[in-house]
Amino acid sequence: MHIAALTPGFAGDVTGIDLTKPLTATQVAAIEAGMDEFAVLICHDQNFDDDTQLAFSRNFGELEISSGGEMAKPEDRRLKLEMADISNLDRNSKLRGADDRIRLNALGNRLWHSDASFRAVPAKYSLLSARVVPGTGGNTEFADMRAAYDALDDATKAQIDGLVTEHSNVYSREIIGFPKEDYGAHNQDKLRPVRQSLVRTHPVTGRKSLYLSAHIGTIAGWPMPEARAFIRDLTEHATQPCFVHAHVWRPLDMVIWDNRTTMHRARRYDDLNDIRDMHRSTVRGDAMTAPQQEAA
Ligand code: OGA
Ligand code: MN
Repeated sequence: MHIAALTPGFAGDVTGIDLTKPLTATQVAAIEAGMDEFAVLICHDQNFDDDTQLAFSRNFGELEISSGGEMAKPEDRRLKLEMADISNLDRNSKLRGADDRIRLNALGNRLWHSDASFRAVPAKYSLLSARVVPGTGGNTEFADMRAAYDALDDATKAQIDGLVTEHSNVYSREIIGFPKEDYGAHNQDKLRPVRQSLVRTHPVTGRKSLYLSAHIGTIAGWPMPEARAFIRDLTEHATQPCFVHAHVWRPLDMVIWDNRTTMHRARRYDDLNDIRDMHRSTVRGDAMTAPQQEAA
């Protein structure tokens, strides 16, 4: 196995390995070391089905149950619970229509975010397997939150030290004007804000990174407008082209990213006419980043 830098220090291209086959502990360690050095790894020509993808993903920890379950009733799901359906297809593999609420909810992925930052214990890795890609568009962009942190001036680093943000899916959906009534009563507790540190330290490398996400609604203890203006400034800073790697998908690509040190967003494509079928598995994190507030 070999890893070549695509964007130095951030995105690496993995070759010489078939990830669909069981891996040795040495191979798993090499991938984890690659994830720590880079934060995004890309591996072409990986012919995964859902079972081999889940088996590969479990090498890196326990898996999350997909939050798509919030939106989709069990009988509406196309994929099993551990698999997030990052596609424009319904359970009969038909294209979703313009007003389909699951389609509209998925448009939240076009905002810069870190997966599951709205969970008290947020995600470690996401693993996205491209099964069908559209003719044009539909890239995924990644932003390096370690480089973005390093580039802050000292006054800003001092200002953000110790700050705690509040994240909820409600906030990101609010940004795109998603109708609140479409959330459904059954998932209210999933929408309660959770607290996250604005600055994280990577458990292995010790590098600091900004922990930003479209799910942030405020900074604990700050007036909301001031918090939102500040978070918007930081997000603009962190997503400048010098911190971004754009991935152009080919069928059978496997892309792994570390949600603790990156943000990502989907770019648009003709989703009413062109199939894009991606399956995402998500490795759980192992700790909260900040103490949670007692429920009122
Ligand atoms: C995701 C995601 C972006 C994309 O899978 O978590 O945000 O380009 N995907 O589909
Ligand atoms: Mn995502």
